[in-house]
Amino acid sequence: MNFDHPPSDPIQACKNWLLDAENYGLATPNAMTLATVNELGKPCTRIVLLKDFDEQGAVFFTNRLSDKGRELKNHPHASLLFFWDKPHRQIRIDGVVSKTTDEVSAAYFETRNRGSQIGAWASQQSQPIANRQALDDAVDEIEKRYEGTPVPCPPHWGGYRVQIDRIEFWQGLEDRLHDRIVFTADGDGGWGVQRLCP
Ligand SMILES: Cc1cc2nc3c(=O)[nH]c(=O)nc-3n(C[C@H](O)[C@H](O)[C@H](O)COP(=O)(O)O)c2cc1C
Repeated sequence: MNFDHPPSDPIQACKNWLLDAENYGLATPNAMTLATVNELGKPCTRIVLLKDFDEQGAVFFTNRLSDKGRELKNHPHASLLFFWDKPHRQIRIDGVVSKTTDEVSAAYFETRNRGSQIGAWASQQSQPIANRQALDDAVDEIEKRYEGTPVPCPPHWGGYRVQIDRIEFWQGLEDRLHDRIVFTADGDGGWGVQRLCP
């Protein structure tokens, strides 16, 4: 990216950097930190996997009854962060969060392997559990329930889409004199653009 003559479309630029990260052979180039805010106003972070990215936003999937699901219900704003060591790049995204449709969630759920589908039913994500055996027992029970049939998408499982308000590109350079550029959605389909000091 030319930071002095930035591209007009940050979505395409982000896609290009995601592709670059993939081409560097990184194990999980789509892993991103998701930051939410809890009911006490405290920030909480965890890694999730980016599963779709376009003009509509950045999509990940999860258990909507998890801590993050509860936090997003109360406060539907999130920050996403990618860091790729090899190309020495970072992307920060801020935006408003909405649920994906049931159709989108179910369509993605169908692509997951059966073990992960079973796990989505068996694991009450973020809830306390006594021990490993209790989790294994829950898996056994779900396996029996759906023996010989497809595993449906649980009602509590689905996607979230972060609609991008702000996206910042950071390219690491020598002597910490990095390049930074931030795009801010103007609400009309366009973007404001600003170079930032490192
Ligand atoms: C590489 C990696 C990828 C992950 N991908 C997801 C994901 O796509 N969705 C998800 O719910 N959790 C994913 N997790 C687990 C989360 O980081 C987290 O432990 C879990 O979602 C519970 O978070 P919560 O208690 O804040 O809701 C991933 C963890 C790692 C390390």
